Amino acid sequence: MTSSSSDTSTPGTSATSAVVTGAARGIGRAVATRLVAAGHRVVITDVDGEAVAATAAEIGATGLVQDVRDPDSHRLVAHTAGGLAPLAVWVNNAGVGWDGDLVALSDEQVRGLVEINLLGVLWGMRAALDAFAAGPGPATGSLVNVASLSGLGPVPGLSTYAATKAAVVSATTSVALEAPDGVDVHAVLPDGVATAMVAEMSEGTGKKLVLSGGRLLTTEEIADAVLGLVGSRRVLRTVPAWRGGAMRASALVPSLAGSAIALFERQGGRRLGAARR
Ligand SMILES: NC(=O)c1ccc[n+]([C@@H]2O[C@H](COP(=O)([O-])OP(=O)(O)OC[C@H]3O[C@@H](n4cnc5c(N)ncnc54)[C@H](O)[C@@H]3O)[C@@H](O)[C@H]2O)c1
Repeated sequence: MTSSSSDTSTPGTSATSAVVTGAARGIGRAVATRLVAAGHRVVITDVDGEAVAATAAEIGATGLVQDVRDPDSHRLVAHTAGGLAPLAVWVNNAGVGWDGDLVALSDEQVRGLVEINLLGVLWGMRAALDAFAAGPGPATGSLVNVASLSGLGPVPGLSTYAATKAAVVSATTSVALEAPDGVDVHAVLPDGVATAMVAEMSEGTGKKLVLSGGRLLTTEEIADAVLGLVGSRRVLRTVPAWRGGAMRASALVPSLAGSAIALFERQGGRRLGAARR
C-alpha cells in the first residue's frame, strides 16, 4: 500500500477520523464527502492510485492506495486514520460488480468477487474493530458495510456477486452481536445506484434486474442512508425499503421466484432499451 498525500484539512480541527474504502468514485466518494462535511478527518482508499489522489484533493481527505484483498493494508489504513484523530467511523465500501452467470465468469472473476467483496470486508471489519478497541477507554466506533439488495434473494446473472453480498449481510448481523458495547455494526443494502459499476455491466439478465426498480438511486441517497446508520441501533437498512421486502419474499420460496424475476427482467429490459434510444 502506498500513500498519496492529499490531505487538505487542517490538523487538529476535528476530534475524530473516518475511513471509507473504494472511495475514489461512486458511492464511496459520496459517503466520504458527507463524512468530511460532518467534521471528520477522512481517509479514503482505493486500488486506483491516480483517482484516489484526485478525489482526496477535491473533497479534502487523505488518499491512500489500497487493495482491500490485503489484510495488512487495512491495519495500515487504521493506523493512518488513528494518527489523524481517534477513529470513529469505518465504511467498507470497495467492491466489484462483475456480472454473468456462474458458469460464464472466469475463474479470476469468481475469485476476485469473493476476495474483494467478501474477504475485503472481513479484513476491514477486523482492522476497524481492533482500532476501535485500541484507545485508552472502552471500545467505541461505528462500522458500516456496503452490501446490496442482491444479498437478500436470488439474482440470476449476478449469482456470485449476490452470494458475496449475502455473506456480507450474514457477517454484519453476527458481528453486530459480537461487538462490544459502544461499537455499532451495520450494513446498507442498496438497489441499483447510478455509478460506473452499473454502467460497466454487460446488457444481460443481471443488469436488467438492477435496472428493474423504477429508477437508479443516486450516490447521495446511499450516503444519507450510511450516515443515518452511524451511531444508530439499526443493523440493516435496505434502500428503498419496499424492494427489501420483495427480495426477502423471493428468498423464502425460490422455486416460485422465477416468474416474478422474469417480470422484473422484462421491466429492466424495457428501461435498457429506452436508455439506448
Ligand atoms: N452501483 C450499484 O448499483 C450498487 C448497488 C448496491 C451495492 N453497491 C455496492 O456499493 C459499493 C460501491 O459501488 P459503486 O457502485 O460506487 O462502484 P464503483 O465501481 O463506482 O466504485 C467502486 C470503487 O471500488 C474500488 N475498488 C475495486 N476493487 C478494489 C480493491 N481491490 N481494493 C480497493 N478498492 C477497490 C474501485 O476502484 C472503485 O473506485 C460496492 O461494494 C458495490 O457492490 C453498488
